[in-house]
Amino acid sequence: MIRDSSSSTPSLGKDLLGLEPLSADQIRLVLDTAEPFKEVSERAIKKVPTLRGKTIVNLFYEASTRTRIAFEFAEKRLSADTVNIAVAGSSVEKGENLVDTARNLEAMRIDMVVIRHPASGAAAFLADRIPSNVINAGDGWHEHPTQGLLDLLTIRQHNSDFKNMTVAIVGDIQHSRVAMSASEALQTMGIGELRLVSPPALAPDSGRFPGARIVDNIADGLKDADVVMALRIQRERIGNLDGVPGIDEYFANYGVSHENMKFAKPDAIVMHPGPMNRGIEIEGSLADGPSSVITKQVTNGVAVRMAVLDRIGRIMSSR
Ligand code: CP
Repeated sequence: MIRDSSSSTPSLGKDLLGLEPLSADQIRLVLDTAEPFKEVSERAIKKVPTLRGKTIVNLFYEASTRTRIAFEFAEKRLSADTVNIAVAGSSVEKGENLVDTARNLEAMRIDMVVIRHPASGAAAFLADRIPSNVINAGDGWHEHPTQGLLDLLTIRQHNSDFKNMTVAIVGDIQHSRVAMSASEALQTMGIGELRLVSPPALAPDSGRFPGARIVDNIADGLKDADVVMALRIQRERIGNLDGVPGIDEYFANYGVSHENMKFAKPDAIVMHPGPMNRGIEIEGSLADGPSSVITKQVTNGVAVRMAVLDRIGRIMSSR
């Protein structure tokens, strides 16, 4: 949820908990703010003073490579002071709960918390209980808003005509917070057609993705698509793999491969939020090939997080 955005000029609110409440103007604001921040990462001295003197805690209760490191780079490039807390090695291992951990951090006078947590709603739960700004870095099956924003920036760099675009997201839709944030943002931007392609066992629950077309056949799902995003099977969130095809069958029927990309438009781009499982949801040589924008997504991830931190930092400064 974005709060405190009462002005007619778009701005972000105190927290970024998901993309569902954001308007098209707010999404454009983040993407337009991110574009110039890309240049900061190309400088010899990768630093601007935007968040000098501010303290940001990265509180990660789940594994992460891209998101945690991109947030840390973004914070450091904006001159904030940062602390990384992972569950392993923290007092969470001794039974301390989320709110007690956060209140102890507050007692040390922090300004912002970036949180990843396995429970859907954890970021909102925290935002309701502490005065610091809270940014959701992925909460259970709910949302991964900065991933959605970096995905949108990457798509916009390829083709900004969202209204005449078909995006196919392929894989484990049911357990994916990445699909949810991408879906929310794409539909807010007026996407022409959004297709969610998966085996029936990994299809989303009815009504969870209003406006999207649910497809269980990859030929139909990828037909004339402009953008194809592969998602991994979220094994850590699946209690029972019954009905999920074995690896070879899955790759043949739902893998984003050279063979299956023949259904998409010839200039279609291939995306993946990472981490990738090559040979399962995506063919390795396709991920490394000219149609792939996967490393561009990672580069954009730093700029988008700088943009979010900058915009939320403005709310922080005015408190
Ligand atoms: N895309 C993404 O969230 O990757 P990490 O889990 O490595 O942060």
